[in-house]
Amino acid sequence: MEVVVGAQWGDEGKGKVVDFYCEGADYVVRFNGGNNAGHTLKFKDQEFKFHILPSGIIRKEVHAVIGNGVVIDPEVLLGELAYLRSKGIQQFTLSISDRAHVILPYHLLLDGLEETAKGGMKAGTTGRGIGPTYSDKVARFGITMGDLLDGTLLKKKIDISLMIKQKLFTAYGREETFFRRKIIDTYLDMGQKLKKYIRNTSVLLNRAIEDGRRIVLEGAQGTLLDPDHGTYPFVTSSNAVAGAASVGSGIGPRCIDWVVGVTKAYTTRVGEGPFPTELDDAVGERIRKVGAEFGTTTGRPRRCGWLDMVALRHACEVNGLDALALTKLDVLGGLKKVKVCTAYEAGGLKLREFPSNIRILAAAKPVYKELEGWMEYSLDDWSRIALKGRGALPLAARNYIDYITENLGCPVELVSLGPSREATIDLRAELRRGEEGDDGPQ
Ligand code: IMP
Repeated sequence: MEVVVGAQWGDEGKGKVVDFYCEGADYVVRFNGGNNAGHTLKFKDQEFKFHILPSGIIRKEVHAVIGNGVVIDPEVLLGELAYLRSKGIQQFTLSISDRAHVILPYHLLLDGLEETAKGGMKAGTTGRGIGPTYSDKVARFGITMGDLLDGTLLKKKIDISLMIKQKLFTAYGREETFFRRKIIDTYLDMGQKLKKYIRNTSVLLNRAIEDGRRIVLEGAQGTLLDPDHGTYPFVTSSNAVAGAASVGSGIGPRCIDWVVGVTKAYTTRVGEGPFPTELDDAVGERIRKVGAEFGTTTGRPRRCGWLDMVALRHACEVNGLDALALTKLDVLGGLKKVKVCTAYEAGGLKLREFPSNIRILAAAKPVYKELEGWMEYSLDDWSRIALKGRGALPLAARNYIDYITENLGCPVELVSLGPSREATIDLRAELRRGEEGDDGPQ
């Protein structure tokens, strides 16, 4: 069983990578986050943009699962299912955990209010109500997808939530009134529309494991947005590291035998928070333009910078990465030189470990190693190069990949050179030979 996680600040291209790993898989499972995520997939000249559905859903042979660790806005989910059908995907198998928590209208409002209250410490959230929904889950006020099928329980829980939220809104000086009846009716109705998908997905997955099925676990966001291991408090509200795959899907950690971290060939970040290798110059602008670095969810321009090996080393460790999938290598094409950050300088010290203190990280100056750049090609050319395999890559690009592998002690097993499935160099067979057997991925 494989876990695919983001090794940076999200937007690493996990959508395409997960879809790729789903070839020959039986199940794809999302285990964290909600519709703050955004993934774009290209398949046969068609482009798909999803926020809540797992990326593997466009493969009709793959059973898509939204695990218990995910938070769901049912209105958005219903909209995305309608979008999927409008794109001609009529045949799919979907299961939604009855334990996944529900994003309600008051969570959306609270998201904005909390951000405003935090002022300079705001995270720059996507405004989708993610933080307040996870807060309610942990505070034991949450509403689950299963509750949407149980009117008696839903009414009781909504009464408690509304009573508390109304007090909060008053404290924030807001006059909004959420009408109990309307919320209950609307959410019970959406529950009925989603009923055929809602089930105990932990049982489903554990039976699948017993039957020897192949499962891909799909992480949302990225390691540096993880509340425990990221740049707290400029993070999201669900664990995005590989360890969360077990918790967020209801399977035991020993079932996981391969962890892949997805990283771009450079770094991007959306929202607030420190970003040591950020480029506020023409190169940063070029990367943004060539890489189309604008958020899938909010459309915000992404902050762009060089590859940060300090942050990646941290990602290798906290996720226990077995391999990397390197995306958007094509975007750096055309630059004479490319840089990678090998350490930080802060307070007169050279740091090789990713600091937890946000002020140290904000003050950190990157120490760069300069490497040769490679040619710029069109997307078609990159696809042709990908077809021929690793040896067809420009020498400098191969050296760049080797540098990353050696520096991190973690092999690059997939190289993505464009949005389509064809523009991918798959080195898994080559690299995993010898790994297979008792310990290799199933
Ligand atoms: P939230 O997840 O909407 O609460 O946002 C918290 C932080 O995580 C903000 O800086 C967002 O920009 C960032 N974030 C959330 N989801 C994603 C994602 O899928 N990609 C990149 N950044 C994200």
